[in-house]
Amino acid sequence: MKIIIAKNKEEFDRIAADMVSQQLKDKPDSVLGLATGSTPIGLYAQLVERYKKGEIDFSKVKTFNLDEYKGLPKTHPQSYYFFMFKHLFSKVNIDPENIHIPNGEVEDSAKECEEYEKNIKEAGGIDLQILGIGHNGHIGFNEPGTPFESTTSLIDLDQRTIEANSRFFDSINEVPRQAISMGIKTIMQARKIVLMISGKDKAEIAAKAIKGPVTTQVPASVLQLHPFATVLLDQEAASLL
Ligand code: PGA
Repeated sequence: MKIIIAKNKEEFDRIAADMVSQQLKDKPDSVLGLATGSTPIGLYAQLVERYKKGEIDFSKVKTFNLDEYKGLPKTHPQSYYFFMFKHLFSKVNIDPENIHIPNGEVEDSAKECEEYEKNIKEAGGIDLQILGIGHNGHIGFNEPGTPFESTTSLIDLDQRTIEANSRFFDSINEVPRQAISMGIKTIMQARKIVLMISGKDKAEIAAKAIKGPVTTQVPASVLQLHPFATVLLDQEAASLL
């Protein structure tokens, strides 16, 4: 695992954006795995800036998002579909046909998951996967205990995840209890991975994921086994390393 500790928030976002920009320059038809949550918002803002300056081009890029809530319509402001269009897709020249986000609105989630895996394979696999981490160590919505062999599936959210995500909803009762998420195996098949960790409240789980034993109890610890994984932290998140 390569560890990078950014001096401040600006550098944190810039380093992540440099990695994505380099990927798009090396391979203009890259397949990107994308994450939602508060952590990558600054990265997406940087990518939009660079696109506007003509430094990067999304016309041939394909994207696969990590996850989506089950049952939230795409128009709901807390759906990850809505998030991605707000922060990135509506602001760059990506072909809408090349955007993939698990569909949490379909009845048959098992079929949706199977097709999602198939679509990733048909696109040639993910070149660069962006990840955040939950306080419980989840990546995507792969909660503690998820087998490392898991592929895209319908997940029951952990109580800690429901509580953490309730900050975005009017009440905790409105937080969906399920989501469709890429599996740990799906994530580990990406050629390169960047795990972004920001803030003091993530310091403890960052230390466990990076230095602790590789265990399904800390899903992000599996990244220690990936040949090209980088963990990008700010100073607060790195304070217990
Ligand atoms: P956050 O979420 O970026 O909003 O902290 C990360 C996650 O839960 O994976």
